[in-house]
Amino acid sequence: MSFDRKIKIAPSILSADFANFGQEIQAIEAQGADWVHVDVMDGHFVPNLTFGPQAVKAFRPHVKTVMDVHLMISPVDAYIDAYADAGADVLTAHIEAGPHIHRTLQAIRAAGMKAGVALNPGTPAEAVAHLLDLTDLICVMTVNPGFGGQKFIDMTGKVRRLRQMIGDRPIHIEIDGGVDPKTAPLVVEAGADVLVAGSAVFKGGSVSNPEVYGENIRGIRAAAEGRWV
Ligand code: DX5
Ligand code: ZN
Repeated sequence: MSFDRKIKIAPSILSADFANFGQEIQAIEAQGADWVHVDVMDGHFVPNLTFGPQAVKAFRPHVKTVMDVHLMISPVDAYIDAYADAGADVLTAHIEAGPHIHRTLQAIRAAGMKAGVALNPGTPAEAVAHLLDLTDLICVMTVNPGFGGQKFIDMTGKVRRLRQMIGDRPIHIEIDGGVDPKTAPLVVEAGADVLVAGSAVFKGGSVSNPEVYGENIRGIRAAAEGRWV
């Protein structure tokens, strides 16, 4: 995975058909997804449960792009090796998930993955000030984590501040929650380059009607790049 600041659209398979992940992943990639975003929830750090490392390992052979695994779990450290074994390219932990995020990010890199740190809406940009040299991606949550389909919370001030703090380091800023063609340009203008989108990508489509995924992805990308489709 090389670093670039081009806009990347990362559909969240939280909005996919849970009985058909393999085909759903193939469909979104064929329709132009840049990364595949995998939301892991534990029913403890967030009030919802999804899947664990065995399921993520089963997704891996279907992902030809980048498997971006967003852990909404606490604790994290005991599971890092399992997600490395599952084939995660990027592994993101929440700064709020425990007292030792510094150690967690070191351990993620030591296990051979890119290390991401996610910030809930209530967490300030400054919380990552001492983590920048351990981090490959900062995920700015624009909803409270746990569910797809929630309303976008404006965090553009935080994104701008993070882009200043990052300077010329090769760190992605990812936006997660309520991204659609209306909100995408706001966060990109503020400095984001990876856009997670669940409902806005999957709405209206299916594996038997995948062209809709493509239209949705192109719509978000065009809006993010300041173009009309
Ligand atoms: C929320 C997840 C998101 C979610 C985004 O806790 O981290 O990735 O799937 O869904 P939308 O795009 O529907 O807000
Ligand atoms: Zn997510």
